[in-house]
Amino acid sequence: MTGTPWAAGATLFDRAGATLLDRMIARLTAQRDALNWAVERVEGRTGPALEIGLGKGRTYDYLRARLGVEQVYAFDDGLRVPPGCEPPPERLFLGDFRDTLAAVRATLGGTVRLAHADFGSPDQIHDREQAAWLAPMIDALMQPGGVVVSDRPLSCAGWQPVEPPGSGPAWRYHAWIVRPGDGQVSQS
Ligand SMILES: C[S@@+](CC[C@H](N)C(=O)[O-])C[C@H]1O[C@@H](n2cnc3c(N)ncnc32)[C@H](O)[C@@H]1O
Repeated sequence: MTGTPWAAGATLFDRAGATLLDRMIARLTAQRDALNWAVERVEGRTGPALEIGLGKGRTYDYLRARLGVEQVYAFDDGLRVPPGCEPPPERLFLGDFRDTLAAVRATLGGTVRLAHADFGSPDQIHDREQAAWLAPMIDALMQPGGVVVSDRPLSCAGWQPVEPPGSGPAWRYHAWIVRPGDGQVSQS
């Protein structure tokens, strides 16, 4: 087979001509590229990273490999990771994001250098509603100049949108620099 896979013939499940396999590959590639960009963007900064949407632990595992397990706090409503991928109990927060992100505000507020919000579901309306309350909750935890990456669009005053590498028509990923002019020098 030649050419890009999504140029192939349509199937019942097509989105823009891409098969489910193509879309999964595009999604995971975009995620990894965006996380690599984010990790490099916050290099030299101190402060924790957040995995908001632990899920099956794929991106958590990647972040802990890049940043160190002691740097990454994980959030989800359940624990569904494979054996060996469980975050340490002191950095694992199970429950609704509304409660768990509020609970860490006293200890982590204003300190986070990188937040990965990976909360997307097949229900776009639900995701948009969730994005509306999630963004300010994340903002309260971020340090100026920190980076947010997400699988869904977020909007927050003072966040500068950036197109992360790997995002494209095959799979969109989203990134922002948080309050870049607020006491920190913005890098491109
Ligand atoms: C797309 S999955 C995360 C995938 C994960 N990052 C990975 O790489 O395996 C989204 C996760 O967010 C969780 N989630 C969504 N909304 C939530 C909420 N309001 N509170 C807690 N967990 C939530 C879901 O249960 C699910 O496990």
